[in-house]
Amino acid sequence: MAYTVPKLEDYSPAALDKAVAELLAGLRQEAAAISSEGESKAFRDRWMARKNGILTQVNDLWLKAAPGPAKREVGTRVNNLKTDVEQIVDDAQGRLSGSASQARLESERIDITLPGIHRPLGAEHPVIRTMNEIVNVFRAMGYSVAEGPEIETDYFNFEALNFPPNHPARDTQDTLFVAGQEKKQQRDRLLLRTHTSPVQIHAMEQQPPPIRVVVPGKVHRADTADATHSPIFHQVEGLAVDTNITFCDLKGTLDHAMKALFGSDVNTRFFPSFFPFTEPSADVSVTCFKCGGKGCRLCKNSGWIELLGCGMVDPAVFKFVENNGYKADKISGFAFGMGVERIAMLKYGIDDIQLFFQGDMRFLEQFV
Ligand code: PHE
Repeated sequence: MAYTVPKLEDYSPAALDKAVAELLAGLRQEAAAISSEGESKAFRDRWMARKNGILTQVNDLWLKAAPGPAKREVGTRVNNLKTDVEQIVDDAQGRLSGSASQARLESERIDITLPGIHRPLGAEHPVIRTMNEIVNVFRAMGYSVAEGPEIETDYFNFEALNFPPNHPARDTQDTLFVAGQEKKQQRDRLLLRTHTSPVQIHAMEQQPPPIRVVVPGKVHRADTADATHSPIFHQVEGLAVDTNITFCDLKGTLDHAMKALFGSDVNTRFFPSFFPFTEPSADVSVTCFKCGGKGCRLCKNSGWIELLGCGMVDPAVFKFVENNGYKADKISGFAFGMGVERIAMLKYGIDDIQLFFQGDMRFLEQFV
């Protein structure tokens, strides 16, 4: 039953104490039952509102109605009641908002002892790593680094590199052409570059001699994938043009580079080869680093492993960049190109080129 303020008939101290005690008991009971903000506000109004709140009623029914001699006794009690009621109402509200914020803290609790989310560190892919190693060997010799587009025109991939139109040497490159270009002139037709050599031309168009540049990059050929072939692979190209560059410079440069890459005890061997854009041309082998040259399965019992192609820049190539200062009678140069996957496979003893492109973590994690 909700508390109501009684009229007083008996103003004796004992009766007053009893009335006060009943009021406080009623108040405490209601205070304990409060469980929401809304209830708490109604509760405060019911007890403390100036207009017809219980304290106001007490003032009217007990104090104002008290006969003269009892006024003093009633007055002290009513005053004390004001303080007590205020205190109890405040406490009740405090308890409510206290438990509300407690509930919020509970729901937003963070367990800082939980293990964090493990983010594994990334690592360079073995192909990129090998490519960077090769590039750095040449940077240390003063070469700058250039890149070129993966989609090339026939002109840069073939014509300016002295592959004449319809020349059979083009067939060796298993080219992937962009479809639907029959209307274009042959030299403007787009293709996926089959080697990084077109960047030789871009570099010479951009910079007059002398030039020393290495070009890392991705190339494409219409090869069926197997353990040693992939339609996408990487090359590092090199080009040096200056006055008086000789085949000796080429041999010395590549011999140094191979020793830097594979260890100072490897030897290099140059033997004649053919590329339309170099003359003379050579293929370069290094002593098999598995058997040290004695002959094993890796080197097919030859003691040598063939690694790259190179040669002296063909004067016919300079013709295409003559306007930028490449006069074949004043300058000379050499170029080389090597396959990055092949070098990585030999360096790390990998027997299947497909492993580089399958994204198998068990393979890749070995290079972290
Ligand atoms: N571009 C040639 C290839 O991909 C390699 C090469 C580069 C040969 C530079 C000579 C000079 O086979």
